[in-house]
Amino acid sequence: MRVITVKKIQCSRTSQEEMVYTMSMAVLEIRKYPEKILKQKTAPVLTIDGKTQMLIDDMVETMRSVCGVGLAANQVGISQKLCIIDLSLRENKAPLIVLINPVIVEREGIVEADEGCLSVPGYLTSIKRAEKVYVRGVNREGKDVGIEAEGLLARAIQHELDHLDGLLFIDRMSPIKREFFKRRYKKQLKEVKGK
Ligand code: CO
Repeated sequence: MRVITVKKIQCSRTSQEEMVYTMSMAVLEIRKYPEKILKQKTAPVLTIDGKTQMLIDDMVETMRSVCGVGLAANQVGISQKLCIIDLSLRENKAPLIVLINPVIVEREGIVEADEGCLSVPGYLTSIKRAEKVYVRGVNREGKDVGIEAEGLLARAIQHELDHLDGLLFIDRMSPIKREFFKRRYKKQLKEVKGK
């Protein structure tokens, strides 16, 4: 998930200390629509090991490098039920959230707002989502967690969990809007390739 309005803030949260720490991490390639991996349901994470920790660190680095607020593992080519959310660019002191095998167990209300996605660059559209959600999952330490969320966090959680189910936000648009989007996007891709 991406927040357009923060584009000009150049990830100022990255401190000197953090820079040194992140030197060992890698920025991964973000898969873009219409790549197939984004359409596939991800597999549950069975063991949380060193590889999982490294993937999480790399995902954090990747998300921050593009000022994103959320990233799902399949967006970096790993088809596993794991996502991260970090609203600290928008909300002061928002913690980094790591959700492994997350499930939304309760939803309440409906609210419509603009959404973008790192896998569908340059496109924003209004999407209806539940106003509040209760999500359960496992954190990076392997502990069970439950998060009650509303506002942007609720939206980010639903957006990232959709990714894990092989759904993009454009799949939640009306069929007419989606057709229009697809045509425009294909044209854009051709133009980029033609340059
Ligand atoms: Co997204």
